[in-house]
Amino acid sequence: MGSLTGKRLVLGVTGGVAAYKAAVLARLLIKAGAQVRVVMTSGAQRFVTPVTFQALTGQPVHHDLWDERFDDSMGHIELSRQADFVLIAPASADCIARLAAGRADDLLSALCLARDCPLFVAPAMNRQMWEHPATQRNVVRLIADGVQVLGPDAGEQACGEVGQGRMLEPEAIVAALERIADAALAAAASTGRLRGLSVLLTAGPTYEPIDTVRGITNRSSGKMGYALAAAAQEAGAKVTLVSGPVTLATPAGVERIDVLTAQEMCDAVMQRAHAADIFIGVAAVADYRVATPAQHKLKKEGGPPQLTFVENPDILATVAALPQAPFCVGFAAESENLREYAQAKRRRKKVPLLAANLAQETFGRDDNALTLFDDAGEHSIARAPKPVVARALLDHVATLIGR
Ligand SMILES: Cc1cc2nc3c(=O)[nH]c(=O)nc-3n(C[C@H](O)[C@H](O)[C@H](O)COP(=O)(O)O)c2cc1C
Repeated sequence: MGSLTGKRLVLGVTGGVAAYKAAVLARLLIKAGAQVRVVMTSGAQRFVTPVTFQALTGQPVHHDLWDERFDDSMGHIELSRQADFVLIAPASADCIARLAAGRADDLLSALCLARDCPLFVAPAMNRQMWEHPATQRNVVRLIADGVQVLGPDAGEQACGEVGQGRMLEPEAIVAALERIADAALAAAASTGRLRGLSVLLTAGPTYEPIDTVRGITNRSSGKMGYALAAAAQEAGAKVTLVSGPVTLATPAGVERIDVLTAQEMCDAVMQRAHAADIFIGVAAVADYRVATPAQHKLKKEGGPPQLTFVENPDILATVAALPQAPFCVGFAAESENLREYAQAKRRRKKVPLLAANLAQETFGRDDNALTLFDDAGEHSIARAPKPVVARALLDHVATLIGR
């Protein structure tokens, strides 16, 4: 039995060329065992008729906020209460904007606002619409609101252009939903697995000053570390997050300590490591810092500065070497030779578990895939949204520590 079996799903279809693919998607979801109710916007009905979806799902298709067929005329409430997931595919730029603004002026956006189940959107639009700052702002807003954005893909578009904005293929959307449903089941089974434990994490980049206004940093967004902090809190742990400079909201219930440099991060960690049961070093910590940052802004007239670097402390190795070390989990972001470098790093830092990912496939992204290295060998966590990957990783940690 698949993980979508018996799941009640509202499939929202909006007005884009990819609406025709939603028919295939509806079929695949039903084949995967889901019960599908389709809600269409008026734009969507310009592309595909409700009859298509009614025939495919065997259920009436809804599109009217003022539908009198619902007993109390409140279709938006009834549909959202009955759903385990809402999936909008394709999600038009306009629909994404309405969701980001919290609008409720049609059935689909009203039911999204009234729901308390997860919402997934699969954007589909012309590449310029996708790249427009307004759309990007709206997508960031949705992600911050906990909406999971699936895709879009890059490739040839209906308008003849090539670029980012194509809807993920229906097969890929179903596979992503199945992975997420699997992880949700695992998370439900593992709820409380870290109860009573204290988890200390680092996340984000560090910033090493060159002078009073310039510095050296890296492209870590902090999303993986923050997702792990939220998942650890969800699993019942007391969580402290030592964070480099990021623009993310602190997960509810998590204590956050903001730092800038690797040395500050090390100091904040070492003050707390003795009290931690688990330490997870996700931050992308600078290996080197400028020996003596200038105390004023360097002037161009002085010619190119000659910078001398000194090594920063190795936070993970220092924590792992403590006499009563917490269970240590390291992260390795490599750009090549992932397996070889990750195994060498695990041996060098003497940590029981190392999670490796390709830097170019994780920095700044909302999804990730991990390869875990421990005494038993190698384990993969398939590509999924970072909160899903975070839960799977913590599940592995809980098993390793006998929880
Ligand atoms: C032929 C045609 C194709 C369109 N394709 C898209 C599309 O792929 N993605 C998109 O975001 N909007 C597309 N639009 C614009 C939307 O249909 C329009 O913004 C509409 O207001 C969306 O409303 P809805 O989200 O309520 O369905 C298209 C419009 C036309 C006329």
